[in-house]
Amino acid sequence: MSRIAYVNGQYELHADAFVHVEDRGYQFADAVYEVCEIRNGLIVDETGHMDRLGRSLSELEIVNPMSRQAFGLVLREVVRRNLVKDGIVYIQVSRGVSPRNHAFPPAGVRPSVVLTAKHMKPKNAAAQKGGKAVTVPENRWERVDIKTVGLLSNCIAKEKATQEGAYEAWYVTDDGMVTEGSSSNAWIVTKDGVLVTRQATGGILKGITRGVVLRMCKQMGQRFEERAFSLEEAFEAREAFVTSATSIVMPIVQIDDRVIGNGHPGNTSIELRKAFHSHAELVPLHQPWQI
Ligand code: PDD
Repeated sequence: MSRIAYVNGQYELHADAFVHVEDRGYQFADAVYEVCEIRNGLIVDETGHMDRLGRSLSELEIVNPMSRQAFGLVLREVVRRNLVKDGIVYIQVSRGVSPRNHAFPPAGVRPSVVLTAKHMKPKNAAAQKGGKAVTVPENRWERVDIKTVGLLSNCIAKEKATQEGAYEAWYVTDDGMVTEGSSSNAWIVTKDGVLVTRQATGGILKGITRGVVLRMCKQMGQRFEERAFSLEEAFEAREAFVTSATSIVMPIVQIDDRVIGNGHPGNTSIELRKAFHSHAELVPLHQPWQI
């Protein structure tokens, strides 16, 4: 079966799907994106992801090119045409195609819209073992709250993790505080059993998965704090884990050369992972009128 991508109003063979060489996403990383999980034929947290896409566009003054309903229909069609039952759908909107010039193009330039979908098995085996995180210096711009495709620092960080056999790279500021992972939010469980993740008022992307886990904590009576935590505190933690649409809850059992807890995924991370989808928003693919 051939993969299909959506590009600016057309469904095309993935292999032949292109945007123009002067697309501002390509030349300036002047584009935003979302990654939404598809689990067992259901769209996970579509509302949260589409809300955040709208926010990212508005922060960058990119005109939202499609209504929520239209995005919902195309998203479903891309997933359907690629026969994805478990996987992800990727949505990217750039400011559009215009002769190269740093300043924004004149009004009327249409944003470019690309959607792709792919199969991805839930990472249950990896979660059973837990993964390692390596640390990297926080060197990104201040607006990491906007989900832009300007991810070169994140790519370099993830490459370091990959080369060191790690699952993720954690950004650490000059004063020793953990911000987030290269493509995930970072969490610890303190010795007293309190979940801690950085506040989303700066320094991190406000993860949709993170939001669901915080809601779970409230519903389950699990103590949590949204505050900065240091690498030193993480070393001493009972558990650590990361959250994202592609990892859900992934236990971290080692940070650099320090083993976390007993070196195995902890109960809290395991429980949160197990319960996650019963707390997330799940919408069937074939009921677009529900959006
Ligand atoms: N990344 N922080 C960063 C830097 C991220 O790139 C991501 C997600 C998250 C978690 O966000 P969410 O829970 O909404 O997925 C936090 C996606 C998965 C990616 O770039 O592929």
